[in-house]
Amino acid sequence: MRTSYGVAFALSAGFRLATAAPVCGGGSASDLLWVTTYPAGEGAQGKLLTLKLDGSKLEVVAESDTCGPYPSWLTQAGDVLYCVDEAWGGDHGTLHSLKINDDHSFTNLSQHETVGGPVSTVIYGKDGLGLAVADYAGGGIDTFNIADPAAIKLIKSLVYPAPTDGLPDPQNSARPHEAILDPTGEFLVFPDLGADQIRVLKVDKETLEYVEKPSYTDFDRGTGPRHGAFFKSGDKTFFYLVGELSNLLQGFSVAYNDDDSLTFTRIHNSTTHGDDKPLPEDTAAAELWIAPGSNFLTLSSRFESSLEYTVANGTKVPSDPLITFSIDKETGALTHVQSAPAGGINPRHFSFNSDGTRVASALQSDGRVVVFERDPSTGKIGKATAEGDVEGMPNFATFKQ
Ligand SMILES: *[C@@H]1O[C@H](CO)[C@@H](O)[C@H](O)[C@H]1NC(C)=O
Ligand SMILES: *[C@@H]1O[C@H](CO)[C@@H](O)[C@H](O)[C@H]1NC(C)=O
Ligand SMILES: *[C@@H]1O[C@H](CO)[C@@H](O)[C@H](O)[C@H]1NC(C)=O
Repeated sequence: MRTSYGVAFALSAGFRLATAAPVCGGGSASDLLWVTTYPAGEGAQGKLLTLKLDGSKLEVVAESDTCGPYPSWLTQAGDVLYCVDEAWGGDHGTLHSLKINDDHSFTNLSQHETVGGPVSTVIYGKDGLGLAVADYAGGGIDTFNIADPAAIKLIKSLVYPAPTDGLPDPQNSARPHEAILDPTGEFLVFPDLGADQIRVLKVDKETLEYVEKPSYTDFDRGTGPRHGAFFKSGDKTFFYLVGELSNLLQGFSVAYNDDDSLTFTRIHNSTTHGDDKPLPEDTAAAELWIAPGSNFLTLSSRFESSLEYTVANGTKVPSDPLITFSIDKETGALTHVQSAPAGGINPRHFSFNSDGTRVASALQSDGRVVVFERDPSTGKIGKATAEGDVEGMPNFATFKQ
């Protein structure tokens, strides 16, 4: 079982809603990407990189230390980039607000401690004035008021009680792994890898305060919910998640109750490959997104080496998969569409551009970032259009909006 932070997490900027309008990537042809890296080796430091798509090359045009040594996730809001430093081994993490400058540099606007080991952030509340953080190592969450990005204010930190059933790390603690906003903007949910729960908060969009609501807890121990996404279809709402420890893909229909709670009803349970065949022992599911404005769900699975990818110099290398399913708009049922090479090993994170015509894949173990073509009408990922090698271990890649 993989438990270190280095392999245990993930991604993204912007909304995780298939139907939300302002998704990542503004301008269909964004040719700038931001990539964060974990440090590779003793004494090394992770970086916040700016990459430019130039023909078939992805060139690093700027690198920055402004997010500290262990940057793990980015969320863009206009000309401000929110970046969390996971601070491996530290007793807290840090949320940084950074001004995005035209010359690809970043100016440190403000920063604040988080509970610890932050791995995901999401913007919420009226006018996007709130930001929620999932803290994996610290077993909690934070909410911030970001009305003034130069003076971000902590609203509240919450540490969830540790499970008491004596399981080893990582299930000896709560492990919120992602902060996700529901399609109404009224609820924040956090897949909790350690406690095998979906944590639920009802938020007040005006005050940015929240009330804790009952978690969804009907998981086998050892599921390890890591990342998920809502899908809204007419008056129906579905939620999908991957379990990192079990490599299960599960789907739920979501009901909104009069008492401001959510009811999740399981409608899908398969491996991340869509079947019930066992996966290699080391496999660890990572990211899950629904492509913008579509009913296609894609997830990444790590440490399989089940496919091959041809790098720019013509050499074939082992690759993990990006696996795509279509979602039935009426029932939420999933149908496997494609298992495509992710471009190498350990695709901890990938993301789509705003019109879903490209996918950026961060291959943590290979020090490589690959941009693929994608057909938004079929959901299929096509050939690699650009590839770049980066120093350190790329753990997150997003198109600039
Ligand atoms: C960012 O600015 C704050 C003060 O606003 C300072 O305490 C901090 O050290 C700075 N961080 C970096 C990485 O420069
Ligand atoms: C989901 O499927 C897995 C693998 O077949 C099985 O072990 C598990 O019990 C199932 N979970 C539920 C809740 O049906
Ligand atoms: C081709 O690229 C791969 C992956 O970056 C590298 O390991 C290999 O040494 C390269 N081969 C040549 C002939 O340059």
